[in-house]
Amino acid sequence: MDQQKVDILISSSVWDPKPWVEGLSKSDLVGEIHVWPTKADLTNVEVLFVWKPLAEGVIDLLPNLKWISSLGAGVDHLMIDAQIPSDLPITRIVDPFLARDMTNYVVMGLMMHQRSMLSHLENQKSNTWERITYQSLKVGVMGLGALGGHLAEKLVDLGFEVFGFSRTLKEIEGVKCFEASGIKDFLGQAEVLVNLLPVTPQTTDILNKEVFEGLPKGAYLINVARGNHLVEQDLIDSLDQGHLSGALLDVFRTEPLPSDSALWRHPKVIITPHVASVTTPKSAIELLLNNLSRLKTGEDLLHTVNINQGY
Ligand code: NDP
Ligand code: OXD
Repeated sequence: MDQQKVDILISSSVWDPKPWVEGLSKSDLVGEIHVWPTKADLTNVEVLFVWKPLAEGVIDLLPNLKWISSLGAGVDHLMIDAQIPSDLPITRIVDPFLARDMTNYVVMGLMMHQRSMLSHLENQKSNTWERITYQSLKVGVMGLGALGGHLAEKLVDLGFEVFGFSRTLKEIEGVKCFEASGIKDFLGQAEVLVNLLPVTPQTTDILNKEVFEGLPKGAYLINVARGNHLVEQDLIDSLDQGHLSGALLDVFRTEPLPSDSALWRHPKVIITPHVASVTTPKSAIELLLNNLSRLKTGEDLLHTVNINQGY
């Protein structure tokens, strides 16, 4: 092992690890890069980059591990994994491109809903000229962190009336912010509810019957955070009863969404396969290398997760 360089293990069961290996290997800070699964000796590995489930027993092979980073914004896959040591720093990706792309996706969904695009597409099939009107919308953003905060600001710029909800009270120009205790008042305003919370024990199943009933009649749901936030049957019931008018879903409890899921066939649901915002290796690698250099000099790492809070 080169004493100056750091050996890395990448475990990415969902994304192709190739661009990560290529990008990271250009740095003088990086020694050997291993990709899981491997039979190589991993004793010298000090850094672990993970995207989605880490195979059982990997941590036991890494006696010199000093830092773990998620390759995405979410860390729920790490927080629920009992083999992850609680005394190591865990970081995640916070990246302007990730925020930009998430905002663009949500704006697309909002606009499609506001402008009744599904009805226009349906009408086109029968040459039907129906001038469906549209109105301004009040949008509630759940989670005002790196992604939700960016979205809320941009929605204000686009002329939406924006309401925000977070664990601790935020101040964002033009956004009426609520903290966790104000959830009822927040929901009562949200003609469109956008979920950008992390999954934690407090937020699991948060998109449920009670929350849907707290929304104005005809409200629309955009879930771009995690499938474990949503009680799917409660959503289907609420859509079928006509309380919610539709939903755009990018994330699911089981991914890929099983082919027998009723969500695939629901006429009021639009499904995308977890592509709302995808980490760009190029810019995320800059962050990872910045943190690697910090690790070596003993500086605090950027974007560490508060393990007690779970995000
Ligand atoms: P952050 O950690 O930056 O923000 C989380 C926000 O949620 C914060 O405002 C936080 O409050 C709030 N929050 C946490 N717990 C609660 C609670 N119990 N009640 C109320 N508010 C709460 O996360 P990001 O914005 O970076 O990402 C959000 C999520 O988006 C990720 O965890 C991931 O699951 C998902 N995601 C989905 C992608 C996709 O393609 N579909 C892509 C990227 C991310 P406070 O500010 O007070 O801490
Ligand atoms: C993420 C995601 O958390 O892609 O980055 O879902």
